[in-house]
Amino acid sequence: MSETFKKLVANKYTKDFRDAGEVIEVPLEQPGARQILMRNHFGGVNASDVNISGGVYFSDGSFPFDLGCESIGEVVAVGEDVTEFSIGDSIVSPWLGSAYTEMLCRSVDEGEFVKVPKCTPAYMGAAVAGLTASIGLKEAGEMGTGETILITGAAGGVGNWCVQIAKLAGNHVIGTCSSEEKAKELKRLGCDRVIIYTKENLGEVLSSEYPDGINLIFEQIGTDTFDACVDNLATRGRLLICGFVSEYMGDPQEVLAPRIYHKLLWKSAQLRAFLYKDWPDKVSSHIKDLVQLVDSGKIDPLVDNTLFKGVDSCIDAVEYLHSGKNIGKVVVTY
Ligand SMILES: NC(=O)c1ccc[n+]([C@@H]2O[C@H](COP(=O)([O-])OP(=O)(O)OC[C@H]3O[C@@H](n4cnc5c(N)ncnc54)[C@H](OP(=O)(O)O)[C@@H]3O)[C@@H](O)[C@H]2O)c1
Repeated sequence: MSETFKKLVANKYTKDFRDAGEVIEVPLEQPGARQILMRNHFGGVNASDVNISGGVYFSDGSFPFDLGCESIGEVVAVGEDVTEFSIGDSIVSPWLGSAYTEMLCRSVDEGEFVKVPKCTPAYMGAAVAGLTASIGLKEAGEMGTGETILITGAAGGVGNWCVQIAKLAGNHVIGTCSSEEKAKELKRLGCDRVIIYTKENLGEVLSSEYPDGINLIFEQIGTDTFDACVDNLATRGRLLICGFVSEYMGDPQEVLAPRIYHKLLWKSAQLRAFLYKDWPDKVSSHIKDLVQLVDSGKIDPLVDNTLFKGVDSCIDAVEYLHSGKNIGKVVVTY
């Protein structure tokens, strides 16, 4: 085993990921008591990587700090008193700092490592993308069955899990995306109506084809998309704010408009926001359920096929996601 390994760290807070990130080479330490050493096979790229590098959340002011959110790999060494994992196990790490490093040494008591059948990006997606979709729809969104559900950013890392989870629960699923190529994938995954917002106006399609409104909206984009969603909620509809990726790279857009209660009260509609980390008691059971759904073939996570190889490619991978070109989860291969 090599004596050193590479990882990507941030030395300052900035949303310019290229400016924040530095690849460093550090000595490999053997795991201590209750620790395991993991060799990453894949790292997951997330829209919010730029919020983390920007110190928007998860920030405690200490530098340097490890970037990235989730990874999958194999256990290559275990410390004393570790009984839960053995060398050769495939595991998912949903830890902050997991994604953009070749090796990871952590205590098994500090958080959730999840054993999976093999090291594939599909299983890794369960840790953050799938978890976000599942906690969002089921816990924060109180998804039912037979509802009309709209997923914005449907062909992305989180979005494609949402489509499949909402469909499995017996709902009518509408997905938005920017291209025909993405739309084709969304139809394959079970979307009943795909709205290519570069060709059709989202608000107009919703109001003409769904005059009773949408029961549950899983919103990831923000700005005009968010506005169209608010306008098309059903009576007792829920608009779930998962993110607002269109505003991550710039300053918040300032708008002058009547306060939002003018739009919500008359239809008893609700605005909800969620971060999956605020349901810590639910994380483990949701990930285990998602892994089983992948295992049984009921969910086929969409993985983008652009190859990013090694720690040196992580910044390119984050910038690629923010170009909006990705179809499914963006991954880095180690
Ligand atoms: N609440 C939580 O706990 C939680 C956890 C994880 C992620 N999230 C959020 O979930 C959302 C999706 O994250 P992800 O990592 O899965 O990303 P992603 O969906 O794989 O990639 C972002 C997608 O957003 C769309 N998009 C629309 N406008 C964009 C713009 N101006 N810039 C970039 N992309 C734009 C693009 O799809 P189209 O071209 O098809 O529009 C793009 O493919 C983000 O808002 C993220 O912050 C929230």
